[in-house]
Amino acid sequence: MVKICCIGAGYVGGPTMAVIALKCPSVEVVVVDISVPRINAWNSDHLPIYEPGLDEVVQQCRGRNLFFSTNVEKHVSEADIIFVSVNTPTKTRGLGAGKAADLTYWESAARMIADVAKSDKIVVEKSTVPVKTAEAIEKILTHNSKGINYQILSNPEFLAEGTAIQDLLNPDRVLIGGRETPDGQKAIKALKDVYAQWVPEERIITTNLWSAELSKLAANAFLAQRISSATGADVSEVSYAIGKDSRIGPKFLNASVGFGGSCFQKDILNLVYICDEVACYWKQVIKVNDYQKSRFVNRVVSSMFNTVSGKKIAIFGFAFKKDTGDTRETPAIDVCKGLLGDKASLSIYDPQVTEDQIQRDLSMGKFDWDHPIHLQPVSPTSIKQVSVVWDPYQAARDAHGLCILTEWDEFKRLDYEKIYESMRKPAFVFDGRNVVDAEKLRELGFIVYSIGKPLDPWLKDMPALA
Ligand code: NAI
Repeated sequence: MVKICCIGAGYVGGPTMAVIALKCPSVEVVVVDISVPRINAWNSDHLPIYEPGLDEVVQQCRGRNLFFSTNVEKHVSEADIIFVSVNTPTKTRGLGAGKAADLTYWESAARMIADVAKSDKIVVEKSTVPVKTAEAIEKILTHNSKGINYQILSNPEFLAEGTAIQDLLNPDRVLIGGRETPDGQKAIKALKDVYAQWVPEERIITTNLWSAELSKLAANAFLAQRISSATGADVSEVSYAIGKDSRIGPKFLNASVGFGGSCFQKDILNLVYICDEVACYWKQVIKVNDYQKSRFVNRVVSSMFNTVSGKKIAIFGFAFKKDTGDTRETPAIDVCKGLLGDKASLSIYDPQVTEDQIQRDLSMGKFDWDHPIHLQPVSPTSIKQVSVVWDPYQAARDAHGLCILTEWDEFKRLDYEKIYESMRKPAFVFDGRNVVDAEKLRELGFIVYSIGKPLDPWLKDMPALA
């Protein structure tokens, strides 16, 4: 029986391994992590991450050929194939701070593998890493090898949070990079055999190590660029027209208040760091994304008579996108901080994000979230201008304005007449994700701003702030 161990039970490691276990009943899969609460949650009825379809897959396999454990060293030493899916945040200090990837977690995982391994191993780079990381890891392992043969593969993950299970069950492609030596090719084949249990052969692409690493960074940079470059005109019309071109495709061309999540910004900053010559262009992509968020805040403040001080503003959605509870780098953080800076009082509703998480996100500095060591616990005097509620109607009651910051489907189905009645007048809706039907809301009496759409006639006369 092939034994797989995955180091890192996060947004990538958990779902990916669950799907491998589902599709390969003859493979034993153990997911290990140093975080005891995370592993306890994976072994409970309340999984640590929300992802549609994940509960069902875990229920089918857990205890059969899928296990979650904190006994990292035991399972690493017993495995034939070790996936490394630890976090690779942007460095917050030292050389390359704010740009380069922090490989501390990766390096310590690699050294631990070298310490405990007693038999040959295939080590699979699942985390998104700078180009040539595999080579560095290979050096760490072979210099400490005690005669063990290590083969390093790069197998970057292309899943998107919110659709992870679908993406894993039916991937556009699986990319496996490895050495061009006979041993390297043998390792590629071993991993290919795992995916081939459910992925058609023509979708499994094999390359050398560098190509696989670079493909992932470049793909994320292109996807992020598409989101942040959305400008005026009616963006859904434009994206439909452009998306008809099969070389471009319709996905990912929707306008929004800015991209978020743990990957896009981090991976672009990483590219910026490793290829300075074209860095200017990619830096602009990050800048445009930041601009989208501050422009949204400016729009809210200027529309509401240039002041939100003391006004209640309802925030619908805090996760970085729908169908996930993940808030890492969510645009909601910057928008909320911007509004709080102008002394608004916020009432936040998100179906999957807890109050504790929101308070922590709003009191943290940029990038701190992925460096658990620097994390401060939420202080008992958490931000007073913020209340978090579990009911959208309660969030909107007595509010002057309502900002939609995540595209949860349920926001389309709310009773906006009831919401309008309960709000202060004039009642504003700022739709950062193009979720609601602006015309219908205007008929109810709302003044509506939808991102990437023509301005509400009412708003045209308002002076925009800088
Ligand atoms: P995450 O932060 O959710 O999970 C990483 C886990 O690794 C944490 O639970 C942490 O406790 C654990 N860990 C760190 N060092 C460890 C060690 N030495 N031993 C055992 N466990 C250790 O991160 P996430 O989102 O799963 O990302 C992992 C990698 O995958 C990153 O490189 C990311 O860029 C990449 N990625 C993320 C995607 C996403 O949508 N979140 C999509 C594609 C790739």
